[in-house]
Amino acid sequence: SGYVTLDIGYKNTGATKSAITFLDGELGILKYRGYPIEQLAEKASFIEVAYLLIYGNLPTVDQLKAFQNELTHHTLLHEDMKKFFDGFPSKSHPMGQLSSLVGALSAFYPESLKPNQTPAEQNQSIIKMLAKMATLVSWIYKKTLGHPVIYPQNKYDYVTNFLNMTFGQRTEEVEIHPVVVSAMNTLLILHADHEQNCSTSTVRIVGSSESNIYASVSAGISALWGPLHGGANQAVIEMLEQIKEDGGDTDKWIAKAKDKNDPFRLMGFGHRVYKNFDPRAKIIKKACDDILEKLGINDEVLEIAKRLEEVALKDPYFVERKLYPNVDFYSGIIYRALGFPTDMFTVLFALGRLPGWIAQWKEMKENKEPIGRPRQIYTGAVNLDYVELDKR
Ligand code: CMC
Repeated sequence: SGYVTLDIGYKNTGATKSAITFLDGELGILKYRGYPIEQLAEKASFIEVAYLLIYGNLPTVDQLKAFQNELTHHTLLHEDMKKFFDGFPSKSHPMGQLSSLVGALSAFYPESLKPNQTPAEQNQSIIKMLAKMATLVSWIYKKTLGHPVIYPQNKYDYVTNFLNMTFGQRTEEVEIHPVVVSAMNTLLILHADHEQNCSTSTVRIVGSSESNIYASVSAGISALWGPLHGGANQAVIEMLEQIKEDGGDTDKWIAKAKDKNDPFRLMGFGHRVYKNFDPRAKIIKKACDDILEKLGINDEVLEIAKRLEEVALKDPYFVERKLYPNVDFYSGIIYRALGFPTDMFTVLFALGRLPGWIAQWKEMKENKEPIGRPRQIYTGAVNLDYVELDKR
């Protein structure tokens, strides 16, 4: 098959035309629908950014109100979904729970199975997906604690509702610190889209077979889980903890990362596209300092992370390979400061990435893209004849 262009890992293959996210890996630029990530992270709310990604423009006051209102009215989960929660072992990984629960939503909303939904029907599926995700994520957290779930409340905006369902109690009203609300908004915005990454490409390719939105997003969650992608945020904290327990000798761990006979990699370092710096990492590093200071937290792993970064950025191995801290290098330290356990970090990435997955799924449908179906170059045996079992 001489006409097949081989590009294992799709390092240089464009799979679509997209008007959602602009990324310049050489210059370290990231924009959603033309707006710089720095401005959005500083000024917008997560739900405003979700609207921007999905519908293409920053919402007016009325559009935002209507959007928020619609979301608020779909945050409840069907009570039968609780049976799924009961069925998971209490220590099962939150990402495994999330991908199955999101896939299961399709069973509760069978209208989503229609391949050619009208725009209004499609929008209802999108709203339900977005609205129910925050409830799912917070209920997964409650399950890990063995605590009763907290129901969504219509008086809260999306992010506050999520935090209330996560950190709230049934027995008393818990006030969520404004620093926590603001930090959560920033983190979710920074994760909201990143063009054709592994999970987003998965969502598009699954959707291209006309699978429903819940099945497509569930597949994206599975793709995000791995430590080379979204799972890196959990892996970073586990690595920093390990370095701390080992005495904090960062030079030793940098040497391990450079050793080609050692499978250890510096988690949270390197990126397929960013070869100068990851603009999200810059924002997160600063936010991390601010948030820890405001919450009065002194976390030793932050010091280790900074030392690692400092050593790595001067080391020829990392310099030559253009390896810089990525979005996940500091995000886990913030999640930890906000009170999330380590195995919830990747689920929070999924909550943030959801508007991007939805926007990309919607765009793929609007572009009427054909089914995704890569080719291959066959390297196996040819011309064998079947050998009877007793003759082998
Ligand atoms: N530590 C040590 N060496 C590394 C690292 C690292 N973190 N990342 C890349 N390298 C080396 C790699 O060994 C290779 O060296 P050589 O040329 O000598 O063989 C060179 O750098 C190029 O790396 P690659 O693996 O060919 O690059 P890739 O584009 O296939 O992989 C990556 C990108 C992000 C998977 C990789 O850098 C990595 O594994 N990083 C650690 C995991 C991580 O932090 N992932 C989160 C990515 S950002 C969040 C997201 O959007 O998912």
